[in-house]
Amino acid sequence: MALRINATVPDFKADTDQGEISFHDWIGDSWAILFSHPKDFTPVCTTEFGAVAQLADEWAKRGTKVIGISVDGVEDHKKWKGDIESFAGANAGFPIIADQNLEVAKLFDMLPEEAVLPDQPTPADSATVRSVFIIGPDKKLKLSMTYPMTIGRNFAEVLRALDALQATYEVPLAAPANWVPGEDVIVALSLNDEQAEEKYGKLDKKLPYLRFAKAPS
Ligand code: BEZ
Repeated sequence: MALRINATVPDFKADTDQGEISFHDWIGDSWAILFSHPKDFTPVCTTEFGAVAQLADEWAKRGTKVIGISVDGVEDHKKWKGDIESFAGANAGFPIIADQNLEVAKLFDMLPEEAVLPDQPTPADSATVRSVFIIGPDKKLKLSMTYPMTIGRNFAEVLRALDALQATYEVPLAAPANWVPGEDVIVALSLNDEQAEEKYGKLDKKLPYLRFAKAPS
């Protein structure tokens, strides 16, 4: 069963290339992004990890920790980081979980169909797919996305989604299609017009149920 949005994400202990972690303790009071990849030393994965490394300052600005995971071991992760850094020209300072027994992959439902079919999966079937889990400081799943082996993820979109999640966290606001920071947000229907204007200033009412307001800074 896939994890549902708003479910508390599983807690687990795991080895990483930076030592053992206890996942919920590692998240602490931060936002967190857990992203899986099929295999170390593979081309698409190298571009993805390079993209995450290049965005280090952006994750930090948003109080967000990032952590990768694959079924490879700690020594492979350490060696592969050298390749990632020379390709991307950026330090891959985030940890990568070594999930060799697939414990975390199963907890988060990161395995492709072949790996969970009853007839004898081969070791090649145990590669995780490309999932992203954005987790709030309350340890709840805020967003997940899954891409197939052949398509590298768009980390600019992951960053945009993180911005939208943070702008609407625990407030009656929502982000419209293609929203980017600086644009107006939508006020939830739990507030009537008067309450909405008291809280967020003048509304731009497109429809009775579609009301924009300046995003609070
Ligand atoms: C890649 O990252 O390039 C890749 C990984 C597993 C299967 C196919 C491609």
